[in-house]
Amino acid sequence: MASLLAFCQVFIVDQGLMIQLFVLVAVAMCLALPSLSAPTYRDYSYWTRSTRASKHAVIDFQVALTQRNIDVADQLLIDISTPSSPNYGNHMSIDEILDLVAPPAPVSEEIVNFLEMNGCYNVENHRDMIKASARVEDVEALFEVEMYTYKHITNKKMTIVRSGESYKIPSQYADQIQMVAGISELPHQTTRPAPKKVDISKSDPGLVIPQTLYNLYNIPTGYQNNANTSLCLAEFQDDQSFNKKDLASFAKETAITPINVTNIVGPYSPSSPDGESTLDVQYGGAVAQTANIWFWTVQGWMYEFSTALFATTPAPWVVSMSWGWPENLQCQSGVASCTNGETSEQYVQRVNTEFLKIGLRGISLLAASGDQGAPGDGSPGCNNKKKPLSTIFPGASPYVTSVGATMLNAPTTAATPVGAAQPPICSKQKCATSTSETTCTYPDALITTGGGFSDYSPVPSWQASAVNAYLKSGVALPPSQYFNSSNRGFPDVSALGHNYAIFLSGGIEQVDGTSCSSPVFGGMIALLNSYRLNNKKPTLGFLNPLIYSAPSNCWNDITTGNNKCTESCCSKYGYLATAGWDPLTGRGTPNFANLLTYVKTLN
Ligand SMILES: *[C@@H]1O[C@H](CO)[C@@H](O)[C@H](O)[C@H]1NC(C)=O
Ligand SMILES: *[C@@H]1O[C@H](CO)[C@@H](O)[C@H](O)[C@H]1NC(C)=O
Ligand SMILES: *[C@@H]1O[C@H](CO)[C@@H](O)[C@H](O)[C@H]1NC(C)=O
Repeated sequence: MASLLAFCQVFIVDQGLMIQLFVLVAVAMCLALPSLSAPTYRDYSYWTRSTRASKHAVIDFQVALTQRNIDVADQLLIDISTPSSPNYGNHMSIDEILDLVAPPAPVSEEIVNFLEMNGCYNVENHRDMIKASARVEDVEALFEVEMYTYKHITNKKMTIVRSGESYKIPSQYADQIQMVAGISELPHQTTRPAPKKVDISKSDPGLVIPQTLYNLYNIPTGYQNNANTSLCLAEFQDDQSFNKKDLASFAKETAITPINVTNIVGPYSPSSPDGESTLDVQYGGAVAQTANIWFWTVQGWMYEFSTALFATTPAPWVVSMSWGWPENLQCQSGVASCTNGETSEQYVQRVNTEFLKIGLRGISLLAASGDQGAPGDGSPGCNNKKKPLSTIFPGASPYVTSVGATMLNAPTTAATPVGAAQPPICSKQKCATSTSETTCTYPDALITTGGGFSDYSPVPSWQASAVNAYLKSGVALPPSQYFNSSNRGFPDVSALGHNYAIFLSGGIEQVDGTSCSSPVFGGMIALLNSYRLNNKKPTLGFLNPLIYSAPSNCWNDITTGNNKCTESCCSKYGYLATAGWDPLTGRGTPNFANLLTYVKTLN
């Protein structure tokens, strides 16, 4: 069992708030939610301002330039991602995408010049984004701020240099520069209520292991993947890590093909593995089998990650992100780099455009739909009267495939766990035997699957009829003032998210979370891409038009349960599962073999 303290410490990073979407059984999380009654732009409650920063300290930042043709790009993405389109799979190169959305070259060149003339160095022109470094005194002059050292209130050794007030965009470039990341945002530490004990009477008490998933989702084993298929697990902590010994024990005890982590990007410290990274690599790797596994740790939040991923070649073809925070709290809680007057909506829309660009390249993005049910991280105590339902970002983005969680019902018969060949772990531990699924919810599980309707993004064409069918199905809905029924519904799909066995620091841990579901679905997409690549076809890329047009035999429809609860309480408000798409489990959990049959029919 990872120590409580170590587990909590990894939540603090030097750029933003990161919430991992999983829970270890019996491990209390020690993060507190931002006070919703104090919607200050920058939350100082976890940091004390110390002295003015040294004039010579160096700040790295990213200047996001205003883009163009975003609606054209959006239509292009839908066209090349819709299976029935003659343009299906016509992905674009980085240059082609930037030719479309980046401002004209003279704009970025002029701003590069301006930054260099004002003391910035290492200035890199990425056409719709400029990266630069500068000393504190130059940053202060450029963005009209005073830079300070901030000390963390509990972890005194942790300091960060940030501005004392919101930065200002140089006025002559107000139209050309949308935002600047790295100057003003303060990371925000939160605590969550300790999860209460699970009521195991209603769910299968056995452990979920890779064979449970292979059997339940009809996934063949023994895959010899195309050498270019890949799955990337993205983590938003600079000290996140998994340990290769744990990976080897996991493979041995569950009798799966060894997992090959072929690409590590960002800081990696295998001596202190943590639950999120370990879960992601073990289950993404188990399902993707011999695919190339990327492990990417990000310093910063979604803007920094999306711009880095967009610019990477070769890039991983499938990326799973088990992280998130409410869309409307991106600026408020300091996660995102927002300046005065900038809203969470602007940050979310900017990152959505970066995700769109990634989709145009043929890369599939997946995100967990959250662990606090329909109330979400905006109402974890089930008592936010003003906004009792909240969303999640990136899990509510229309440019990601949002993955919710199911759990196994209690077994009705004493079935054998996983077919004839029992992996070694099942002779020591009780493995799951049930084969029927329901919505993953507290108190039967430690978490409740997130789901609902985006605050900001209108319902996309590929989803409109599924969402309309849900809204018109007669199923009881929350009061209409608490959700925006004309917007993108999430999640799109789901997979088991309760009682997974992971191998961490030499021991077995039981884990719950939509954090389990996203890498598992991602592993299946890596297998489908392997088929495409073997047949000289482009990767599946942006998945959602395919997900909604795939025949219904590709999905196990989950029709029972609700997501009114969080990780610790139940609210009056939430959604109910029903036949067809619903904002708890999406279209359902995958039937991989049938999905592959469908994918084989595509151009
Ligand atoms: C993998 O990709 C590289 C670069 O695109 C290509 O040259 C190679 O043929 C591919 N390999 C397979 C097995 O498809
Ligand atoms: C792991 O991947 C590397 C790099 O692609 C390759 O050289 C190696 O053979 C792989 N190992 C296994 C066990 O598949
Ligand atoms: C619902 O979201 C749309 C954006 O898709 C927005 O234009 C509209 O104002 C929102 N409605 C409410 C009631 O907030």
